[in-house]
Amino acid sequence: MRILTGIQPSGQLHIGNYFGSMKPMLERQGQGEMFWFIANYHALTTVHDAEALRRQTWDVALDFLACGLDPVKTIFYRQSDVPQVQELAWLLSCVTPLGLLERCHSYKDKLAKGIAPSHALLAYPVLMAADILIMQSDLVPVGKDQKQHLEVTRDIAIKFNNLFGETFKLPEPAIAESVAVVPGLDGQKMSKSYGNTIELFAPASQVKKKIMSIVTDSTPLEEPKNPDTCNVYALYKLFATPEQQADMAARYRAGGLGYGTAKKELLAAFEAVFAPLREKRAALAAHPDDVEDILREGARKAVAVADQTLHAARRAIGLE
Ligand code: ADP
Ligand code: TRP
Repeated sequence: MRILTGIQPSGQLHIGNYFGSMKPMLERQGQGEMFWFIANYHALTTVHDAEALRRQTWDVALDFLACGLDPVKTIFYRQSDVPQVQELAWLLSCVTPLGLLERCHSYKDKLAKGIAPSHALLAYPVLMAADILIMQSDLVPVGKDQKQHLEVTRDIAIKFNNLFGETFKLPEPAIAESVAVVPGLDGQKMSKSYGNTIELFAPASQVKKKIMSIVTDSTPLEEPKNPDTCNVYALYKLFATPEQQADMAARYRAGGLGYGTAKKELLAAFEAVFAPLREKRAALAAHPDDVEDILREGARKAVAVADQTLHAARRAIGLE
């Protein structure tokens, strides 16, 4: 089974991204043939600063490798190192009804926000279909927000196959419905756009500052507290063992555990998980040639698959 997903290089990852999307993906490694790429062509729809795009692309590569992406098990590449994707996107464009793209929520949401749409913003799902179909993917794990793009991908593949003969496998989405929403510092969903994030690879001092600023109620120290309505406890649960969770919950209920102490325990639990990853990331960053080699080797394998599919599509459509 071939599993494929992409991530846009759009700034520093936070622990919502880690628990909501990275960790479930990392756990799938070895369950099939895994393709994972950095969607830098897609990022061009919003990032128009060459230095920023380069830096963000590099940052994502370091983040994922530090968190445990294993380049032996997973084909890890930059989208732009597989230019066959672009040619396939054009072939797919020619069979994609405009109405299909105009109906996409992510496009309509951006229009509603007053963003002046580029052609690329409208065509975004076609490029995504090319990413997926060119690798003949079976399964595509994505967040709920990408579900419609997967439906568009299937519609385009069906249309192409009907017109020109069986060329593409129909991919299935794998939507991580079960992953709990990670709360931010203020209790709302953790999100870049709310400014309530804890970054995965921020320096320890910054993480400390953020954790100490988590919003709580004003129950006095000695009084019993309900762990289930507390942001500190909700975040602690992500890092702690079941025994540690039960212990903190019992101390909350008994009274006498203050939020300041709970935050310090959360910080210690965070550091136990992420301090080693921070070190691993620094080690990778000190050897950029090794990281570049990993991405090049990933691209080499990805291009071998992409070339075959592209030739099949070119033959089917009459270019060869
Ligand atoms: P943001 O909301 O910060 O812009 P993205 O939309 O870029 O984050 O999210 C990328 C991935 O991380 C998505 O697959 C999404 O499901 C997951 N994710 C983001 N925030 C959270 C959260 N607070 N809890 C769980 N998963 C999250
Ligand atoms: N659009 C996806 C997102 O923003 C990223 C992406 C691009 C992708 N191409 C893909 C995800 C192909 C899965 C498969 O999250």
